[in-house]
Amino acid sequence: MRNPWLDIPEVDYVGHMSSPTVNQRPVLSRLLGDALGSVRPRTLLVLGCSTGNGLEHVNPEVTSRVTVVDVNPAYLLRLGERFPNPGFELDVQCADLADAVLKREAFDLVHAALVLEYVEWPLLLPRVAAALKSGGVLSVVLQLPSLSSPAVTPTTFVSLQSVESLFRFVEPGALVEAARGEGLTLDTRRTELLATGKAFEVLRFVKHAV
Ligand SMILES: C[S@@+](CC[C@H](N)C(=O)[O-])C[C@H]1O[C@@H](n2cnc3c(N)ncnc32)[C@H](O)[C@@H]1O
Repeated sequence: MRNPWLDIPEVDYVGHMSSPTVNQRPVLSRLLGDALGSVRPRTLLVLGCSTGNGLEHVNPEVTSRVTVVDVNPAYLLRLGERFPNPGFELDVQCADLADAVLKREAFDLVHAALVLEYVEWPLLLPRVAAALKSGGVLSVVLQLPSLSSPAVTPTTFVSLQSVESLFRFVEPGALVEAARGEGLTLDTRRTELLATGKAFEVLRFVKHAV
């Protein structure tokens, strides 16, 4: 099956995420900024990076290499335009996370925000754990179910509705349990309430030293 994300134009995606009824883009940017500020990674991997939301918070004096993965080549093209001279090494990978090759023991921080909902995350998690260095941090942002609005809020950008067929809520407890099995210990977990009525669960895991 063709991934519906491939058919969502970049302007629709950014317009949807920034529209007043969704307004998730600035929150997600801040959450990557928070993770960068507390982990201070030398190497960063961003899964489902879209157009590089939040990469503006990367401090090149701290982070020397950033790897980004997304299935949509147009989003990655835009990312490259937004960060033409980033001051850090930028490794852009256009790949489906179902089979993307993630370098082993290479990253101090892996960030996955609102992307596990669109992939077979139990199959991806072991590869993510293997990609972390010992002592590295996995940062995850999950969308929590809302009583008042559907998973993908309707906006004027109707193309976004096609990804709802792919969307599956990830139960935070199930992720914590599976992560433990991969040597990732839950470090912090909190709920981020959005002004629109939805909420995110923000989790950080640390890879055990072996
Ligand atoms: C809701 S957006 C993520 C938001 C972004 N992480 C942020 O913080 O602003 C989901 C992203 O995941 C990407 N994506 C969805 N399924 C994917 C897959 N199977 N492999 C790689 N990228 C995928 C989409 O193209 C899209 O850019």
